[in-house]
Amino acid sequence: MSIRIGGLRVAVSVIIPAAGSGKRMGGGTAKQFLPLRGEPVLVHTVRLFSECPLVDEIVIAAHDRETTRELVGSLPKVTHIVAGGPERQDSVWAALQLVHSRPRVVCVHDAARPLLPADVLEQVLLAAGGYPAQVVAVPVKDTVKVVGSDGYVTGTPDRATLWAVQTPQVFWAEPLLHAFRSARAEGFLGTDCASLLERQGVPVRVHPGSHENLKLTTPEDFLLAEAILGRRSRG
Ligand code: C5P
Repeated sequence: MSIRIGGLRVAVSVIIPAAGSGKRMGGGTAKQFLPLRGEPVLVHTVRLFSECPLVDEIVIAAHDRETTRELVGSLPKVTHIVAGGPERQDSVWAALQLVHSRPRVVCVHDAARPLLPADVLEQVLLAAGGYPAQVVAVPVKDTVKVVGSDGYVTGTPDRATLWAVQTPQVFWAEPLLHAFRSARAEGFLGTDCASLLERQGVPVRVHPGSHENLKLTTPEDFLLAEAILGRRSRG
């Protein structure tokens, strides 16, 4: 199994931004180090990629590099643990410095999403040959309102057009590097990587994700994550 762009076999580099402080979780420990079914969240996340046959290397951005190295430094395919930056975009940029110029695909996945189903990962990577930019996403379940700073609703977008975008997000390395350089030069800060490519006019394809691919943000998310992992372990 391999990925080809224009007939050429490409390598897959995974970037895992894991340098968040986890303020919304409360408590002093960053959420990527909190236990989930007896193991730190970060271990669950990195293992998903270590075990994927399509992945060649994994680069992790972290503030606490020592703890990160102890936890996941010896897992297969982890090649570098770099210092994270003040914003997620800075952390991804730091990791991108280690992505070489030879043809490759870069897959960015948040440390805080340890429940990504293996088949979703495999399918989005296998599709990468055909699309320079892909995001994994699910249709939103709630009605979404736009709310002004005064606390009043200013609009209700048509729900049928709204998708909640997750990670992984998968890109050809060259347009990704170009989009990051432009964003940095222009002082643009996005909450995901794809928004940087959208600014450059690169078409971003939506790949169907999973509602189980939670981003662990608040304590309730951990309860749900424990339940999902429990069900999976019972087969
Ligand atoms: O804060 P948020 O949940 O959006 O973070 C998404 C991912 O980005 C998390 O895995 C977090 O560890 C990472 N992050 C980072 N560097 C930052 C902020 C967040 O690597 N400065």
